[in-house]
Amino acid sequence: MKNAEIIAKLNLEQKCALLSGAGTFTTRGCPKGGVPSITLSDGPNGVRKQAGAADHLGLNPSVPATCFPTAATVACSWDPALGEQLGQAMGEEAAAQEVAVLLGPGLNTKRSPLCGRNFEYFSEDPYLSGKLAAAYVRGIQSNGIAACPKHFAVNSQELRRMASDSVVDERTLRELYLTGFEIVVKEAHPKTIMSSYNLVNGTYANENAHLLQDILRKDWGFDGAVVTDWGGSNDHALGVKNGSTLEMPAPGGDAVRELLKAVETGKISESDVDARLDELLTLVLDTHAAVENHSRSFDADAHHALARRAAAESVVLLKNDGDLLPLAAGASVAVIGDFAETPRYQGAGSSAVNSIKVDTFLDCLKDSGLHSVGFAAGFDRQGKPDDAKKAEAVALAKKADTVLLCLGLDEIKESEGLDRADMKLADNQIELLQAVQQANPNTVVIVSAGASLETPWLAHCRALVYGALGGQAGAGAMVDVLTGKINPSGKLAETWANAHDDTPARDNFAGAGRTVQYREGLYVGYRYYQTAGVPVAFPFGYGLSYTSFAYSELKADARSVTLTVTNTGSRAGAEIVQVYAAKPDAQIFRPAQELKAFTKVWLEAGESKTVTLPLDDKAFRYWNTKTDSWEVEGGTYELRVGANSADIRLTAAVEVNGTSAPNPYAGKALPHYTSGKVQRVPDDEWEILLGHPIPADTVKIDRNMTLGELNHSRSPLCWLVWAVLTGLLNASYKRGKPNLNVMFQYNMPLRALAKMTNGAISMGMVDGIVLEAKGFWVIGLLKVIVEAVKNIILNAQLESRLRNS
Ligand code: BGC
Repeated sequence: MKNAEIIAKLNLEQKCALLSGAGTFTTRGCPKGGVPSITLSDGPNGVRKQAGAADHLGLNPSVPATCFPTAATVACSWDPALGEQLGQAMGEEAAAQEVAVLLGPGLNTKRSPLCGRNFEYFSEDPYLSGKLAAAYVRGIQSNGIAACPKHFAVNSQELRRMASDSVVDERTLRELYLTGFEIVVKEAHPKTIMSSYNLVNGTYANENAHLLQDILRKDWGFDGAVVTDWGGSNDHALGVKNGSTLEMPAPGGDAVRELLKAVETGKISESDVDARLDELLTLVLDTHAAVENHSRSFDADAHHALARRAAAESVVLLKNDGDLLPLAAGASVAVIGDFAETPRYQGAGSSAVNSIKVDTFLDCLKDSGLHSVGFAAGFDRQGKPDDAKKAEAVALAKKADTVLLCLGLDEIKESEGLDRADMKLADNQIELLQAVQQANPNTVVIVSAGASLETPWLAHCRALVYGALGGQAGAGAMVDVLTGKINPSGKLAETWANAHDDTPARDNFAGAGRTVQYREGLYVGYRYYQTAGVPVAFPFGYGLSYTSFAYSELKADARSVTLTVTNTGSRAGAEIVQVYAAKPDAQIFRPAQELKAFTKVWLEAGESKTVTLPLDDKAFRYWNTKTDSWEVEGGTYELRVGANSADIRLTAAVEVNGTSAPNPYAGKALPHYTSGKVQRVPDDEWEILLGHPIPADTVKIDRNMTLGELNHSRSPLCWLVWAVLTGLLNASYKRGKPNLNVMFQYNMPLRALAKMTNGAISMGMVDGIVLEAKGFWVIGLLKVIVEAVKNIILNAQLESRLRNS
């Protein structure tokens, strides 16, 4: 143990106390024991340190910081070096604000385009997500503070996010949902990791020994601190036993007593507590010292410039008929669309940054050299039809050579806590596009959105530019791309399907009951579309440039791929080269091809460069459920080098030595998984893959019943709570602005009442509520009252002992 001396001086109560938070974003200290308190803050695209009232939903204001582009945006740069610079800058701002742990990056696999937090995650591909997240972590931690990659693991929906059980087969778990985290842990050594809210195969992630002990700590060698998501602790003692270090935010004395009792009754041992405390002390002491020694200021202008460069590198040019773009200096443009005036540049929820300043498209256009004939908002942001706005925009469109039409998703369409209902742009925006295009066919659509969209309207524009959520400097980056100052080089980090109906998890997302079935298995994103032969609007890895590139001279073996890339056009530019591995004669079913390496090459006009892309241990492996380990199927593989997943330019066959493991699927009928046609996998086939029966999905009256399920209780009081919450939620939907706070409470399990109220509610009181819900109205109510009094007295005594010891 690294901190044996400190630990030896603490009594059991002090030790247990240190393993949960003191406030919404602070840990407990023990000044006499030499343990300082540290601050943790969101988040993944900039620091959200709350100086006043703190919350975990981004509701109260925070200290101004640079709002960098969100992860979904930067993922389109495919540039880990850029990710590292962003991490470095965010970490610098965090340390300057005395933040010891920055809660990010988020790298959950984008299982469905509808997940409300997709804007906060990198990709549908775990390799790309892992490489970028590792770069962020290296950058953040170069300041001596800790990064906190999140949410570990299989956390791909917002509905019932604190109480849903992700049912996933072991191979899919390893290959799709854990590989990104494995890359981060092994390549960037984060000092912390955040366990997710959900259960994985029946056990909460935060107390899941398979995830936290077997895989994270033993297989990957993680020796840092596991931090719960806010309110994500279910059984604190089990969490500690199974590898979770710090419960957040501030569960109060109850959590301390729970641990003490668990040690006293032998549920866990004191050495479990010591092991976790050792991890925590290493984190606290290291990062506290780093924060103490760090400068209290940073160069906000330099960070704004970096944010602009990052946004520019991430812009994806999706369509450019007749080379409409870039626009020549002096070209006349009509600027249409509310987003030009009021940018949509970040997501909602805990990642929302109080930006130091925010550029707007209209302002940035002033210095662009383009001649603007005027601006019209064109549509109501929340989707209400507005003929007057439309008519004004159409009239304006006629006055210019080109229309710059700024469309996108409004603030509430994609948010933490709330999945998207569909993949559509609002009808009023599509109607506007059609009307504007009739008035002026030279229409460029500029999209602000943190996730993929259906594009049935694509024929109505000549150019389409995706800026994602570009951060506080995103508008200037977009102007640079439109004018050709920057040659776009971004490529999509997620497939744009033709329609939501085509997506693989369509029928199992978002799981509305206790369980969410990951029936589609390995076939997420391009793995599905390419294997099942489903056409898409824009494939994974797609993006155009103002120049063109040629690929030649491929040489490959099982360790690396070497090729020459030439800029064959007349402008400097960058090309993202992607390497996919395929095994057309595979005996073990697998996706048609999978990303195994990528690089970004900067080339002057006419320039050629020879690049070598190393292949690592992940290039040919698959998870074998019979041997319970990574294996390699031997034989011939195709290494396909492409400009995107559907535009393969060069292919090499390589021989790979296998590990001769038995085929875990021998004699089993898995036709859907073999063909990749997984939208409708029958129960019996899903059970074969899963290796056990599909778990039952019934509402139970227990600590983990959500407030939104209280209508299933047997208590009028609980029904009333349910009716009030449901009423508030529905009313907010009707107003077109879902109330995130109410949404959070609706999806919150009863036990979270004891985890999110700074100690005001204890687990004993929750058990009273459960009794009440079960129909024991009087006993339940009495228990709540007795436990409340007990809680107040015990908390006061505990806090006084901790203060004085
Ligand atoms: C989110 C985390 C976040 C935490 C603290 C939670 O609701 O899921 O991503 O870091 O709040 O704000």
